[in-house]
Amino acid sequence: MTTEINIGLEGVLVGTTAISNVEGDIGRLSYRGQSIEDLSRQSLAAVIALVVADVSLDEEQAKTLDGWLAQESELSPVELRVLEQLGRQLHPMAVLQALAPIVDTKAKTPLPDFLPAQLESALVLAAKQSALVRVWHNLTQFGAVVELPAGLGFAEKLLYAFNRSEPSAHAVRAFETVQILQMDHSFNAGTFAGRVVASTKAVLAASIGGSLGALSGPLHGGADEAAVKMARDIGAPERAADWVASALANKVKIMGMGHREYRRLDPRAGILKPMARQFCEGTQYQQLMETLVAVEEACQAEFGKKGKEIHANLEFYKGAVYLALGIPEQFFTALFACSRVFGWTAHFFEFNQDPRLIRPRAQYNGK
Ligand code: ACO
Repeated sequence: MTTEINIGLEGVLVGTTAISNVEGDIGRLSYRGQSIEDLSRQSLAAVIALVVADVSLDEEQAKTLDGWLAQESELSPVELRVLEQLGRQLHPMAVLQALAPIVDTKAKTPLPDFLPAQLESALVLAAKQSALVRVWHNLTQFGAVVELPAGLGFAEKLLYAFNRSEPSAHAVRAFETVQILQMDHSFNAGTFAGRVVASTKAVLAASIGGSLGALSGPLHGGADEAAVKMARDIGAPERAADWVASALANKVKIMGMGHREYRRLDPRAGILKPMARQFCEGTQYQQLMETLVAVEEACQAEFGKKGKEIHANLEFYKGAVYLALGIPEQFFTALFACSRVFGWTAHFFEFNQDPRLIRPRAQYNGK
């Protein structure tokens, strides 16, 4: 029995997974053996099927699954009434964490038969997270739920509701790409929290509730919102160097920079940066994007002075893309959850193939 204490569990192996592989020292990420660069060009539905069920879909099947997810991504009248009663000041992550365990997961139509039927209610639960975020956005931002035309796809539905207009194919593709990049990431804090809950034989919805709580923190999913807030506070690229130097001197963390696993560039940030540049160019977000680039450069210069490296993580440039897609920053982390929920679902089922109660020890240092 070890007596060494490792609070952050850095480098501790706590299980195996075949869902995603984070190769931090070489800056590589793959889901089910496919590189994130290849996956980022596939449809969202195809990647969902791969992550959740390890099933590769053809184009027709991916379309069918997308339509099914879009259709299941609706709230019941009772669920809608619950949301309407809540205080509008609540953060979308608090709303998700409260509602995720109680939504009705009965499917309106059977899951397409190219996926295992036992995943049906799990996928309804996952699709409903998008409905909760969409409706909560509409209630808090517009005061009423946006009526959607029939036939919209899963991602299209969200973008339509957020903007009250039909999104371009280019915008839908960009949104799907961002969602694909966030879908799974091995034993990150949120996923591990979900596995801990699953280890007590709790149901999937409870496990997802645990994951949502972990994801909400600024050291994890909440860093997306915090990075944009930081860039807004700095205001202009020419102020970034002084701001970063002073922040680091005062031991302030630069949100969206650094990663426990990636010692080289986070490949997700490598995909997001050019996307963010392209989407923000010529828009009201160009200055914010240039400020982010200047913060990254200043951070790297400061770390370089001490012979250290630091790189942007997934959260750093994602907000710029989301903003350009018409998504307000308080919804960033909740939309992250709408994608990561498919990864959490996959981990729940994987964990339950060989379950064991997770129960570490503490060294008592009290009276
Ligand atoms: N800003 C300033 N300094 C940093 C940062 C940062 N973002 N990241 C790391 N460092 C410094 C630490 O202060 C520490 O310095 P020291 O050795 O002089 O004490 C050193 O780099 C190592 O950092 P740790 O925090 O010990 O490394 P850890 O592996 O715990 O950090 C973490 C990972 C928590 C992500 C960290 O980089 C961080 O806080 N980043 C900002 C928050 C963030 O962006 N989170 C999102 C992560 S991605 C995701 O969750 C989807």
